[in-house]
Amino acid sequence: MMSCTNLEETRRDFPILERKIRGKRLVYLDSAASSLKPIQVVEAIRDFYLSEYSNIHRGIHYLSQLATSRYEEAREKIARFINANSPEEVIFTYGTTDSLNMLAYSYGLKVLKPGDEILLTVMEHHSNILPWMRISSITGAKIRYLDITDEGLIDYERLDEKINDKTKIVSIAHMSNVLGTIVDVRRIAKKIHEVGGVIAVDGAQSVPHMPINVRELEIDFLAFSGHKMLGPTGIGVLWVKHDLLDDLPPFRLGGGAIREVTLNDFMLLDPPHSFEAGTPNIAGVIGLAAAVEYLQKIGMGNVRMHEEELTGYALRNLDNLGDSITVYGPKNVSVRGGIITFNIRGLESNIVGSLLDSYGIAVRTGKHCAHPLHQRLKIDGTVRASIYLYNVREEIDYLISTLEEITAEVR
Ligand code: ALA
Repeated sequence: MMSCTNLEETRRDFPILERKIRGKRLVYLDSAASSLKPIQVVEAIRDFYLSEYSNIHRGIHYLSQLATSRYEEAREKIARFINANSPEEVIFTYGTTDSLNMLAYSYGLKVLKPGDEILLTVMEHHSNILPWMRISSITGAKIRYLDITDEGLIDYERLDEKINDKTKIVSIAHMSNVLGTIVDVRRIAKKIHEVGGVIAVDGAQSVPHMPINVRELEIDFLAFSGHKMLGPTGIGVLWVKHDLLDDLPPFRLGGGAIREVTLNDFMLLDPPHSFEAGTPNIAGVIGLAAAVEYLQKIGMGNVRMHEEELTGYALRNLDNLGDSITVYGPKNVSVRGGIITFNIRGLESNIVGSLLDSYGIAVRTGKHCAHPLHQRLKIDGTVRASIYLYNVREEIDYLISTLEEITAEVR
């Protein structure tokens, strides 16, 4: 459990929280876009660059071997964090978008044929739609969508109708970046496995905020980003279940990924190295490992508990503001992450965002890279306040009192 003292200590690890924005103390409620970074992560990157840096897997000299060990130790740490079967299942990418593109262009291109089906949901982020649209147009496979209920939950009742012998891939966000909905991916995994298909999970919003055990979830692929989980930008992971690794022809080819090359042919290294051609974001990997260490020290169960408590608190208080505010997504916090999306009647989301900014409150506004979901909800945009382990009740109180002032002015 994160006590008040723990929380104060945690907040001290994020010096940016002391910053004044337009003369007001920063209230950062935009962690679903990108999280803040603790000193420990910044120092790990700094120390690596200043005293251990070299390229990896390419040198017999001391520093290259040291950097290689650090890089591979980080892979082991990240594999343990999601309970992977082995570090080989962890492929470093540039982020969730890169991971999903890699998956679509490797596995998707290899297995899909005309008449096959890819199942997505109407609440996916564009990063989990666009790569599949491209692969669908190349292969002739058809994209189908699972709908949501009025409350913003997946319409599980329609799973039987949407998943059939033609469904080869389900690709689905574990937590919606707009509604905060937590999807029962295990239930969907069981269903797709019955017909011999696979499930890919976009974990961009879930991996940073709740315990993730890929084996318990019974999923096949998991994509996530470092920058939303206290790590640096430009680093992410594509986790691939071991028995599928051989079904993935690496999509990016080049140096560092091969065993031998002749003028006519090449032989790849084993995974995961076959997927990491080119000099990777080595310092990013080191920073991500430091972020994972930081999260493990707090405990992912505690992170989730803290956010569930704060989300419930925020939802109850928003409810008290009356009908000039519409809140989207599930009311039950046990199936919802710390993403609180709303609109104020009569005000565009961007206007609300600018007004909140003038009070030092950082939120995201607009369609959050989820146009189809906004079309489904028949709205032009929303205001999204998203929380993380460093947020406190006082910040929610400040958000609510500011929203009260804003709504009083438009009434
Ligand atoms: N995908 C991030 C978001 O939802 C950037 O805000």
